Amino acid sequence: MTTTEWAGAAAIVDGPGGYTGVEATPEWADEVRRLARARNATVLAHNYQLPAIQDVADHVGDSLALSRIAAEAEEGTIIFCGVHFMAETAKILSPDKTVLIPDERAGCSLADSIDADQLREWKAEHPDALVVSYVNTTAEVKGLTDICCTSSNAVDVVASIDPDREVLFLPDQFLGAHVKRVTGRENIHIWAGECHVHAGINGDELTAKAKAHPDADLFVHPECGCATSALYLAGEGFVPDDKVKILSTGGMIDAARATGAKQVLVATEIGMLHQLRKAAPGIDFQAVNDRASCPYMKMITPAALLRCLQEGKDEVHVAPDVAERARLSVQRMISIGNPGSGE
Ligand code: 13P
Ligand code: SF4
Repeated sequence: MTTTEWAGAAAIVDGPGGYTGVEATPEWADEVRRLARARNATVLAHNYQLPAIQDVADHVGDSLALSRIAAEAEEGTIIFCGVHFMAETAKILSPDKTVLIPDERAGCSLADSIDADQLREWKAEHPDALVVSYVNTTAEVKGLTDICCTSSNAVDVVASIDPDREVLFLPDQFLGAHVKRVTGRENIHIWAGECHVHAGINGDELTAKAKAHPDADLFVHPECGCATSALYLAGEGFVPDDKVKILSTGGMIDAARATGAKQVLVATEIGMLHQLRKAAPGIDFQAVNDRASCPYMKMITPAALLRCLQEGKDEVHVAPDVAERARLSVQRMISIGNPGSGE
């Protein structure tokens, strides 16, 4: 592998928030693309990534769309610009490919909210239940799971299960409450985990913004603490029912293209605004909470991506026996539902 002669490469600094020191200039973007081609790599970016990372990637999308692309990629190497569980999922689906993440320290507070021992104990209390795990989990937890899901297909996954069978849904309590509400299922037990970024988008902020912008649509990610408040606002007639949409990040892109609204209030991680503004430039998109930035997603900096391509680091490994156990639940996940677009 040839290393770059581009001057920006010398300045990469490893600090507490990740790798820094490289600006996202057009030269950087050219170098990223050149190195990716030289490695026979495809660069995938989640909708929460920094705008420069989204713009340089080969594919941008939600968790389900990116998992499907990773499973079908022709290139021998996948560079996953997202958080660790996403790269791990790509490795589970494509064990023969090299999967790299630009900074392996990019974790996820939601995935950390349940470990394999806790799930074993929970399963022992409900031995006949089927386990549905959100993709935001470790590979070990996926190995103890019957079907994984993402926010795009969680409702479809749970609806596909025999109505008489108990379900253990983990780890996100807000997504679980949304699934329970939509499916009307009573025999579903929900783990009390949460994403600290989405839980921080609260109902009071949403209510104040919705009342200040009565004509705006509300796009709400189901991981948000305010999803219930959004439905309450609709239920109480403060905003018309058809203006409240509970959507995955990919679903938000489709909804942005379809809406007639001039303004949309967006309740999710703020990286999402970039793809929304590209998809529908005529709409005024406003964050419900403009401090809702995921520190893990933002560890994938221009410097980290350049280092990744130059040095082939950080490589993602999943022990073959763990990957073997997890694969079926992830394959079931990618066969169900529609991720929405994202690119
Ligand atoms: P989706 O892109 O599947 O909606 O997931 C959002 C998320 O929180 C990923 O960490
Ligand atoms: Fe995890 Fe929340 Fe960050 Fe998504 S936004 S990666 S769920 S911490």
